[in-house]
Amino acid sequence: MRRDSCKCEPLRLNRCGTASCPHVVQAPTVIAMVGLPARGKTFMSKKLTRYLNWIGIRTKAFNVGDYRRAATTEKCHDFFRADNIEAEDLRNKCALMAIDDACKFLRDGGEVAVVDATNTTRDRRKLLVELICENNNFKLFFVESICDDPEIIEANILEVKVCSPDYSGMDKTEAMQDFLQRIEHYREHYESMDYSYDKNLSFIQIFNQGERFLVNKLAGHLQSRVVYYLMNIHVLPRTIYLTRHGESQMNLQGRIGGDSDLSTRGWEYANALAKFVEQEKIPNLRVWTSEMKRTMQTAQHINAPKAHWKALNEIDAGICEGMTYEEIADKYPEEFAKRDQDKFHYRYPTGESYQDLVSRLEPVIMELERQENVMVVCHQAVARCLLAYFQDKTSEDLTYLKVPLHTVIKLTPVAYGCRVEFKYLNIEAVNTHREKPKNVSLNRSKEEALSTVPPNPAVNDVERHSPGER
Ligand code: SIN
Repeated sequence: MRRDSCKCEPLRLNRCGTASCPHVVQAPTVIAMVGLPARGKTFMSKKLTRYLNWIGIRTKAFNVGDYRRAATTEKCHDFFRADNIEAEDLRNKCALMAIDDACKFLRDGGEVAVVDATNTTRDRRKLLVELICENNNFKLFFVESICDDPEIIEANILEVKVCSPDYSGMDKTEAMQDFLQRIEHYREHYESMDYSYDKNLSFIQIFNQGERFLVNKLAGHLQSRVVYYLMNIHVLPRTIYLTRHGESQMNLQGRIGGDSDLSTRGWEYANALAKFVEQEKIPNLRVWTSEMKRTMQTAQHINAPKAHWKALNEIDAGICEGMTYEEIADKYPEEFAKRDQDKFHYRYPTGESYQDLVSRLEPVIMELERQENVMVVCHQAVARCLLAYFQDKTSEDLTYLKVPLHTVIKLTPVAYGCRVEFKYLNIEAVNTHREKPKNVSLNRSKEEALSTVPPNPAVNDVERHSPGER
C-alpha cells in the first residue's frame, strides 16, 4: 500500500499490541470476481470494499452490469445468449470500460479496485492478466463464488435480482424465470478456475457461501487479509444492537475518559435496556461490553451470556483523560485545535486517535461478522467506529456521527447493505455531541474553541459548557 496519504508512524504498536496502521508498501491490487450470476459476487464486492475502506485502504468497486445498463436498455435473457454476437461485443466493451476505469483509479492513488463481473471464461481472465498485471504491473487476485445449492440461488435471486434495475416494474415470477435463463446462457461457456490451468494465478474459490474454501498462491499481506475476511463473513439473517453505556457520573461532570459509575439516570437506562431486550425476544443473543464499569453496569440486568472486550474500551484521551473541554481549551489550546483540524488522525499525547481505534476494533468487527445476534454496549468513539463500518461512512464523517446516550441502534442486514434504526428508550441524558467548530486555527479564541460544546442540563450550568463528548 502507498503511504503518501497515511499519517501513521510506521510500525507503531497500539495498546493492544497490533499495528495501528494497515499500510505496508505493496503494489495496487485488482480483485476480480468470478462466477455465474446470482452467486453473491456483488454482495461480496460491496462488503469487501466497505471493509477495506474502513481499515484505511482506498478501495472502489466497478460493476460491469452498471456499465452494461448505461450502454443499453436490453435486459431480456436473449441479450446474454452465447450466440448473440452483437450483444457479446457490447458486453465485452462494457467489461473493458470497467477494467480501464479500475486501472485509472489505481493509477490515481487508489489501492484496491474490485472488478465485479462474471469473468466466467479463461479468455476473459487471460485478458484481465494482460491488462492488469502485464500492462500495469498491478497485482491480481481472483475471487470465485461457486454455488450448486438451488435454495441458495433462488433466495439470492429473490433477495436482490428481481428487484434490480434490470427488472423494475416486472412481475416477480417472470423476472425469476428470465434470470434463470440468463444463468443458463452463462453456464454454457462457464470455465471454473482450475489448478491445472490456473496454478500460477492467485485465487480463492468459495463453495456454497462458505461451506468450503480453496486458496491458491496467495501473494502478500493484502490478499491474506481479504481471504481471512471472506472466510469470516456469513449471510445468515441476524441483528446487531449497538448502544453506548448509560449516562455516567463523568458525563454529568462533563469530564472525558475515566472509569466512573453510572448516574441515577444511567441506572434507569440499564433497567430499560434489559426490558427492551426481553421485549425484542432475540434468539441466542450475546452481549459484549468493554472492560469499563459503565458498560458492564449498563448490561448488568440483561439476561444473556456476556463477554467483556478490552478492545471495546473508550478511546484513550492520554494527557486529557478526566478533563472537561474547558480545561483542555485552557491548558492545551493547540492540541484542542489540532484535534478539530483532523479529528480522525489526531492522536491525544500519550493516548489514541480514531485511526488507532479502528485498528483496535478490527478483531471486534471480524468476530461480529462471524456471530449471529449480538448487542454491543460500548462508548461514543467506539460506537462511531463500529457504526461507520456498517454504514460505509468515510473516516471524516465517522468522527462526527451522532450516537446519543440512552438510544439503541438496531442494525439489520438487507440486500447489499444494512437497515439502521435508532430507538430512544425515553430516559433523559446529557447531550454529548460536539459538532466541528467553524474556526479550527491554532490562534482562535477560547470562545470560538468552545462554541460547539453543548450545554449540559444535568449540571444546569450553560456557561460551563461541560460535555462528555470524546
Ligand atoms: C451484467 O451485464 O449484468 C454482467 C456482466 C458480466 O457478465 O460480467
